[in-house]
Amino acid sequence: MCGIVGYIGKKEALPLLLKGLRRLEYRGYDSAGVALIENGSIGSYKKQGKVGDLEKVLQGQKVSSSIGIGHTRWATHGEPNDVNAHPHVSNNGNLAIIHNGIIENYGSLKEDLISKGFEFSSDTDTEVLINFIEYIQSSDNLTLEDALRVALSQVVGAYAIAIISKDTPNKLVAARKGSPMVLGLGKGEFFLASDATPIIEYTNEVIYLKDEEILVIEDGNYHIKDSQDIPQTPHIHTLELELEAIEKGGHEHFMHKEIFGQPESIADCMRGRLNKEKGELTLGGIRNYAKALENADRIIILACGTSWHAGLVAEYVFEDLCRIPVEVEYASEFRYRNPVIKEGDIVIAISQSGETADTLAAIELAKSRGAIVLGVVNTVGSSISRVSHEGAYLHAGPEIGVASTKAFTAQLTVLYMIALRAARNKGTIAENRFQQLLRELSLIPSKVEKALLSNDKIEEISEMFKNASNFLYLGRGYNFPVALEGALKLKEISYIHAEGYPAAEMKHGPIALIDENMPVVVIATRDSSYDKIVSNIQEVKARKGVVIAVVSEKDALIPKMADFTIEVPATHESLMPLVSVIPLQLLSYHIAVMRGANVDQPRNLAKSVTVE
Ligand code: F6R
Repeated sequence: MCGIVGYIGKKEALPLLLKGLRRLEYRGYDSAGVALIENGSIGSYKKQGKVGDLEKVLQGQKVSSSIGIGHTRWATHGEPNDVNAHPHVSNNGNLAIIHNGIIENYGSLKEDLISKGFEFSSDTDTEVLINFIEYIQSSDNLTLEDALRVALSQVVGAYAIAIISKDTPNKLVAARKGSPMVLGLGKGEFFLASDATPIIEYTNEVIYLKDEEILVIEDGNYHIKDSQDIPQTPHIHTLELELEAIEKGGHEHFMHKEIFGQPESIADCMRGRLNKEKGELTLGGIRNYAKALENADRIIILACGTSWHAGLVAEYVFEDLCRIPVEVEYASEFRYRNPVIKEGDIVIAISQSGETADTLAAIELAKSRGAIVLGVVNTVGSSISRVSHEGAYLHAGPEIGVASTKAFTAQLTVLYMIALRAARNKGTIAENRFQQLLRELSLIPSKVEKALLSNDKIEEISEMFKNASNFLYLGRGYNFPVALEGALKLKEISYIHAEGYPAAEMKHGPIALIDENMPVVVIATRDSSYDKIVSNIQEVKARKGVVIAVVSEKDALIPKMADFTIEVPATHESLMPLVSVIPLQLLSYHIAVMRGANVDQPRNLAKSVTVE
């Protein structure tokens, strides 16, 4: 959460910073701000709201500088307003900081600084940090980087920070711990950002800063040291990301682009891995620990939100194909329990961003107890991909819409491939069944394409239900996690209350909610629970509930019972979530658009949840 950018070079910094902030706006959009060194002093401009609101503040102002920092905020400490917006400037007006993360011991530091005469205008932990650095720098007469090192040794929490000082206008200093930071290396210029998207336009050479490293860029050079002041030799990565991939490409919203891009993103995810002709599956990222996975006594899946839903589907798949018991845990719960983990247990960590703080912390806990961690991550070079022992990237391309869509289907695809390969090597799947599932998997992009053809019908259905106050989503077996995912999609972008339930659990409570005002979305594709879910639909109808059913094509029975039906192509039931989730993504998208909600940036959310 929160996006940070920085620039130092020969160009005008302001337009670069604003463009970078726009690219990072998905990480938070409560307020935005920039600070630059102008004529020997710090100019700081900030505004509650989006980057567009900040741009209005800057309109007509003559701001000229070739060094600056910028921030787009997802509020943690203090409400979203102009004062709490970043950057924060220190009491003597010398230093300005931007920060992504949380300083946990800011309260005691603040009290101490107040007793020394410091004054604070905001409620933020960040303003405390910059004044703490100022205090150390001025009392011990230290360079900015030395003062930062001393300060950080006394700070508890997570941070990605960048600081400029009016006394050293050719220097930009940055550090990270627990929050991401990427340095872009241009020709005589440097770019800092929370991820590579603001950088790719200018250079494809980047360095991912490691935890507790401090970066100094000064007079056209840079160096990185660790927290003990020991110089580090960074690895320079060459990015393969295309600029086009992070732009809307003619779609009204990123979410629309991402939903409709799924035939391609699922195909990308299988490319070079699934060979239909040879009937082979290769996953180069999981080579050294493939045997450990096959021989594992159990698998623990750690994730949050939509990624957790993908984990629930994977549980069914792994147990069925590999006959290995699986537990799916919310990372946020797991990390604060005292979980039983033994040497050699396999943890599969699923994350689109690769930066989710709870998932990262849960991984560290599992690793400390001897588990082997396999990451299933989308963002290349992200923290989770780096702390995992091995893993498989999604290769779905950047997901910018805050509501996860293409990452979910890519997660399912990767997890399916991992399970299928392990089952074959382990001998828990017959060769002909393996080949059949492999073929079926290879057909998924075209089936998703077909499922997307229901878009117009779904738009009509959305029109009818856009003013509903509640929705219930029901599914069984492999479609139960899809019901959860459909409900999550709807509530997060349209702000309609929605609940996902295993259909058979309905009679244990939620059935009391059903009346003629309650739309019930039932994922009722033809599978081993078909007859049971037909009975569940009848139970809803008997109580005058309105049923919107997602059914397999050519289903003759359910359309006679349901009020509305949406057809999806048939596939093997274990692969059905890849197809049956598509109408639910479209339903939430259209309802949100019709309600005038900000689809790509829903209120209170952020794409990358880097705080616990
Ligand atoms: C929902 C959504 C969130 C994320 C969750 C985990 O649409 O996007 O629920 O799935 O915050 O994020 P990652 O996958 O980045 O760890």
